[in-house]
Amino acid sequence: MTARMKLKLKTVFVLYFMVSLMGLIYALMQLGQHCDCAEHDLPKDRAISRLQEELYRLQGQIRQLEKAKQPEKKQPPKSSLSTIFVITPTYARLVQKAELTRLSQTFLHVPQLHWILVEDSPRKTPLVSNFLMKCGLTYTHLNVPTAKERKLQEGDPSWLKPRGVEQRNEGLRWLREDRKTEPGDDGQQGVVYFADDDNTYSLQLFEEMRSTQRVSIWPVGLVGGMKFESPVVEGGKVVRFHTGWRPSRPFPMDMAGFAVSLRLVLANPDACFDGEAPMGFLESSLLKGLVTVDELEPKADNCTKVLVWHTRTEKPKMKREEALQVQGLGSDPAVEV
Ligand code: UGA
Ligand code: MN
Repeated sequence: MTARMKLKLKTVFVLYFMVSLMGLIYALMQLGQHCDCAEHDLPKDRAISRLQEELYRLQGQIRQLEKAKQPEKKQPPKSSLSTIFVITPTYARLVQKAELTRLSQTFLHVPQLHWILVEDSPRKTPLVSNFLMKCGLTYTHLNVPTAKERKLQEGDPSWLKPRGVEQRNEGLRWLREDRKTEPGDDGQQGVVYFADDDNTYSLQLFEEMRSTQRVSIWPVGLVGGMKFESPVVEGGKVVRFHTGWRPSRPFPMDMAGFAVSLRLVLANPDACFDGEAPMGFLESSLLKGLVTVDELEPKADNCTKVLVWHTRTEKPKMKREEALQVQGLGSDPAVEV
């Protein structure tokens, strides 16, 4: 009886040993065998090619960064550049976001620029506030409404009343307040430029104006019914102005044609634009409190290059929009344009 049991146990043990051994041999064979199933390789291949792509992309970025770094070597370090404070009046209309987009994307190419955007509005609008937050520039957002009696009404000719006056003055007021508290000489170093939101600005213009000592000037293209208006320079001095209209004005030039040093703005706390100035005298109303013609600093190759254009954007026609609105099919008002 016990001998039979012993035999059975032995058989079970041998069987168990055999099965384990076979399992082990099978496992060893699998390990050594070359697996040609494409399914297994696919994720590995994909990962390799993804890593390769990433490597190429990073190599490209390194090359671009190195290229961008090279011209910087020739320029003075950023902090030694004077800041250009650009004061821009702006008002709500269909093309406003388009104008601000174009303008801000020019400014993004200018080092050390501080944008002072002043809304002609009793409140800061969500459109402009959100726009500024995302624009990537250093900015100050201000607002002041143009007094009702000074505001152009629908249908008025554009020359009837000056535009952007209170807004530019508000920008000057902010600068004087803000810079007063800046300690040392550095806080007063800078240049102030009045850039309307619809003009076209060359990047070169900003480098020309950066060295302004008192008031610098240059030609403006497509303005005053002319191909360009310009100061005329002889022996490095402005001797007269090339303009088609009232050359007898103290400073017969457009707003886009000059920049003022911050120091001069701060040293003359009462200098500002006069909203009551007769047509064409707005620029003179500020400048006559700051400089004489003799002191003007000609830029842009002695005023022989046009680097800013007094472009004006056409008012978009809304005939079809209005027709569809009557039928309740107007463009979705929730989409910001
Ligand atoms: C010309 C000059 O280039 C302006 O610098 C000057 O302010 C203006 O004439 C004037 O005589 O007042 P123009 O193209 O006729 O410019 O004027 P706009 O471009 O219509 O307005 C000048 C600035 O004021 C713009 O930045 C505009 O957005 C702003 N603006 C205009 C307001 O803030 N509120 C308005 O009701 C209208
Ligand atoms: Mn304009």
